[in-house]
Amino acid sequence: EQPSISLNDGRSMPQIGLGTYQIPDGDTAGVVQAAIDAGYRAVDTAAIYGNEAGTGAGVRARDETIFVTSKLWRDDFGYDAALKGFEKSFDRLGLDWVDLYLLHWPFVEETRFVETWKALVRLREEGRVKSIGVSNFTMDHLERIIHDTGVVPAVNQIELHPSFQQVELRAYHDENHIVTTSWSPLGQGAALADPAITAIAEKHGKTPAQVVLRWHIEAGLTVIPKTTNPARLAENFAIFDFALDADDERAIAALDRRDGRIGPDPTTFAG
Ligand code: A2P
Repeated sequence: EQPSISLNDGRSMPQIGLGTYQIPDGDTAGVVQAAIDAGYRAVDTAAIYGNEAGTGAGVRARDETIFVTSKLWRDDFGYDAALKGFEKSFDRLGLDWVDLYLLHWPFVEETRFVETWKALVRLREEGRVKSIGVSNFTMDHLERIIHDTGVVPAVNQIELHPSFQQVELRAYHDENHIVTTSWSPLGQGAALADPAITAIAEKHGKTPAQVVLRWHIEAGLTVIPKTTNPARLAENFAIFDFALDADDERAIAALDRRDGRIGPDPTTFAG
């Protein structure tokens, strides 16, 4: 049985889900169904990915309860705009509710994210969104919305992989009961060629991707690896039959780099 993690609003979320960034909408329903057939019970999409329709269609095609995450893009920031933006995502998904709805980025010089956050609080009260959170928020951004609204996000979804482990932000999340989701958990594939990772993989008779994903799970993170390849879908899910040891953990901890970020820096990203 796959593990779930408790959220600060009393709900829980599967620790592993399918990431869909860069999957074309027309392919997404098929990939989502294949993932569900492989055992996945969570899927992560976003308005800006352009594949909410395919994601919803894939979920509706299977008779399983799937934890669905989507995200609000910059065009729809602001209180009223966010409510309307959600309506569009909700229609595209075609589901009865959205499990987790996130502010996608804090966008530099964007002062409206507090107002936008208040709209998400309202959507949760209305019930079509079950849990609310943010993505790519720094400690300062989190402090701001918590201070101004008193509502602590259930999740902050951030870039996190062995080369960029976000140790300080994770400690802040833990203190504030915010669950961390790792995006690009495989470092967009780069972690898989690291000699330290391949050595651990060989030792356990596992693949590098399985070692890296297992590391996220054991660290108490939620993780959303992206693949469209059916064999890799299964591979990435087959991580519940082995465990890393203390040597493995030390070796992976040593891969963390201050400059290991691959994606945009949230303090300068303008969308
Ligand atoms: P593909 O979609 O062709 O399988 P991340 O989730 O860190 O962004 O990484 C996603 C990248 O890693 C994609 O390019 C994906 O390619 C590749 N990938 C995903 N799973 C595996 C795997 N098990 N082995 C090798 N590459 C993988």
